[in-house]
Amino acid sequence: MVGTHFSHYGLFKVISYLPRFASYVFRHVPSARYAAAAAALGVMLEYATLSVMLPLASGKGQSGSLTSTIIDFWHNIAAQIGLPDVSRTWLWLFLLLLGMRIAVGFAQVALNTWVSKRIHAHLSGGMFSHVVMHEPLAEIYRRTIGHYTALAGDEAVRVGQVFFNLAQTLSALIAATIGLVVLFIFSFLVFKLTLLFLLLSGFAIGFAMKRVFSWSNESALLSREASTTFIEAFNGIRSIRSMAGEAFVVRRYQNLINRYGRVLFLLDVFNQGARSLPGLILIVLGLVVLFPSAGFIQDFSAIYFFTVTTMLIRVLSFLGTAVSSGGRVVIDIRAAFDLEDIIGDTPASGQPPLVGELISSVHKISMSNLSCGYVSGYPVLTGIFAQLEAGRSYALVGRSGSGKSTLSDVLLGLLPPMSGELQIGNLPYDQVDLASLRRKVVLVEQQTRIFSGSVRENIAFGLTPSDAEVQVAVEASGLSEFIGSLPDGLETRLDYQGANLSGGQRQRIGLARAIVRRPDVLILDEATSALDGQTRDMILQQLSKLFLDKILLFITHDNQITQSVDEVWHLKKGRLLIETRAVSA
Ligand SMILES: Nc1ncnc2c1ncn2[C@@H]1O[C@H](COP(=O)(O)OP(=O)(O)OP(=O)(O)O)[C@@H](O)[C@H]1O
Ligand SMILES: [Mg+2]
Repeated sequence: MVGTHFSHYGLFKVISYLPRFASYVFRHVPSARYAAAAAALGVMLEYATLSVMLPLASGKGQSGSLTSTIIDFWHNIAAQIGLPDVSRTWLWLFLLLLGMRIAVGFAQVALNTWVSKRIHAHLSGGMFSHVVMHEPLAEIYRRTIGHYTALAGDEAVRVGQVFFNLAQTLSALIAATIGLVVLFIFSFLVFKLTLLFLLLSGFAIGFAMKRVFSWSNESALLSREASTTFIEAFNGIRSIRSMAGEAFVVRRYQNLINRYGRVLFLLDVFNQGARSLPGLILIVLGLVVLFPSAGFIQDFSAIYFFTVTTMLIRVLSFLGTAVSSGGRVVIDIRAAFDLEDIIGDTPASGQPPLVGELISSVHKISMSNLSCGYVSGYPVLTGIFAQLEAGRSYALVGRSGSGKSTLSDVLLGLLPPMSGELQIGNLPYDQVDLASLRRKVVLVEQQTRIFSGSVRENIAFGLTPSDAEVQVAVEASGLSEFIGSLPDGLETRLDYQGANLSGGQRQRIGLARAIVRRPDVLILDEATSALDGQTRDMILQQLSKLFLDKILLFITHDNQITQSVDEVWHLKKGRLLIETRAVSA
């Protein structure tokens, strides 16, 4: 069930995670440095633009104050370039700096967006490769598909947005602080009132953030459940229709999407609300200043009033941006915790570290007192002593649920043994690089998966076999006639999940896919169960020729097959009994 293992994270944990996130960004997206530089330049320009307002507003300063230092600074600059000390000069400078500020602001947004998209791509790709290569199968089944599609899709996008919004929050905060300093210089009273209101709204916002956070958790959960429902319905569409379950599935999906939409609505409304909060503060502030008995307004000159108001509007609009993007950071960073595997320790090269020794060939697999199973403390099989040797064929038999597929999972390196010894050649299992083992030990599954692409692509599946090699595999798996009947032969595209194939045709494509890989160990899990006797016999004959000096392991209930192998392994009540046959050559 999706969400069972979903954690809720506290606000404090989110904030303490930000430095870790920033370090990940700077490690993996070098252009983040330019974005940071643009942000710094933007802040400087912001400061310069605002400070030009001082000579513009007052013309002359009071000696010794911060005001006069700033004014002197600009007067010096003006004198150096030979500009006269008149209002026109200051207005020109102001406009020039403002123009530069806008240009840098644009560059900043473009860079931040670029970095966000890079983060998204890195996380999404990293997530997919992590799941495909390393995530234990049991974990994947437990978490369901919605979890992973949401992480690689929606949530990777969100984490990318974190950078954008974080950069925006920080620069808005710095700009607002600068504005506050200027306000402090101009009007201590307005400064004090502003601080008071910031404090009050800070409490309100902090309180609201808690709510936002729980909505954000809920939205992720619902989105994952909806994805799972969607994909499961897609993959099981035949079953759903054949038992008239459409209405049920549609209702379930609709229900989830409605709830998801409601939570997203709440999050968005909150964010928009946060943006307008500073405007409300401005109105209240204005009312306080206007209140007649307070007597604040009498000696305001027009230019003074203009400067203070402009400054205040800027400060408050920056704060609005800060609150709103800060809110988004809090909402979106949640996804980063679930992508921690990628954010945390992927080496910069993107190459997974090599685990164990590479396997180049497998001539022997030995099991000694081996136990295996899925749930610790509940082994499916125990006390297994057996050996697979090159040049021999084996049949693994037993009732349904007796552990045949479980044992083959162990041989494939999909399921680590619980106890006992498993050796690949002379190498203990835990010293083996499993990916290289799986290139040598290949399974034909009970149900062959068809992937989108042509017949040839489905057989080659990542390899580049020659035409002759494909031909051998096609013939050995009894596919020649079928492929000859297709409009484009090997290049014919197959429908989604091979819907346009019969069960037996699908099974034979699975066989051809395994044969073309030329494994040292071929495990066939009921791989001929859907075939007629004649086709099966032909395939068995071909296999015994092609795999004469290799290991063939049939998992089967078929007497015909058990008669033809060198050894029959019986699984019964969690134990393995070996029956050796004297096969006449
Ligand atoms: N992923 C899993 N997690 C937990 N238990 C599992 C898992 N897969 C199989 N089992 C359990 O392990 C036992 C052996 O199952 P296994 O699939 O190996 O049987 P089998 O012999 O291949 O049966 P069949 O002939 O029906 O394919 C069963 O009790 C099954 O419930
Ligand atoms: Mg099975």
